[in-house]
Amino acid sequence: MRPYIVGNWKMNGVKAMLAEARAIDRAAGRNPGVDVALAPPATLIGPLRDAVTMIGVGGQDCHTAEKGAHTGDMSAVMLADAGADFVILGHSERRRDHGETDAVVKAKAETALAAGLTLIVCVGETLAERDAGQAEAIVGAQVDGSLPVLADPASAGLRLAIAYEPVWAIGTGRVAAVEDVVVMHAAIRERLMAALGEAGAAVRILYGGSVNAENAAALLAAEGVGGALVGGASLTTEAFLPIIAAASHED
Ligand code: PGA
Repeated sequence: MRPYIVGNWKMNGVKAMLAEARAIDRAAGRNPGVDVALAPPATLIGPLRDAVTMIGVGGQDCHTAEKGAHTGDMSAVMLADAGADFVILGHSERRRDHGETDAVVKAKAETALAAGLTLIVCVGETLAERDAGQAEAIVGAQVDGSLPVLADPASAGLRLAIAYEPVWAIGTGRVAAVEDVVVMHAAIRERLMAALGEAGAAVRILYGGSVNAENAAALLAAEGVGGALVGGASLTTEAFLPIIAAASHED
């Protein structure tokens, strides 16, 4: 499976950051065995698309509807029109800040697929849930509840990726233990196989949460880890390029 390294710029990025995107694009060209992508703020999707040639460009959210009276929201059709080829859905910051439930994430996923976008659907437990021994049950329920109905389930590997992002590891510098990541990715794979049959085997499962140049190699080499969703360390080439290089050794 080709490793998939995705930078989630969150609410960071003005036009001056396009220089970083160009450098990341060149690095992707030097690592042809890795799928590299960036999800900039929506305002930069068009300019970034024009600035790069090798990497995927995506949005960080979309509405459940294609268009309409929803001030300040963005539809999947608009993301695609601006040049996006994928969208991140159900990120824990969206679930936390905007009350997104699994059902909302699923509805967004189906709208995004209809607009021709591929998906990265995020799941992950809080620290309290992990401490209570509920991590697998919580994440499993998120997978079951957030997965879109695919018109062609056989294409799942091409249309969909899952990002396992323990909430307590995001932006905290506290990375999950590799053994715990392996166990959770296996549990997610089981849910995918149950929902999608054999096609579930082709869906890449990314790890996210404080991935950096130092820990990327060990995480990416772990059983069942198909790539990384990277926040803070995707904002500069200095931090992001070593992660792409680490993935290159795993392809
Ligand atoms: P982080 O964010 O790498 O800054 O922890 C990851 C994410 O939220 O996708």
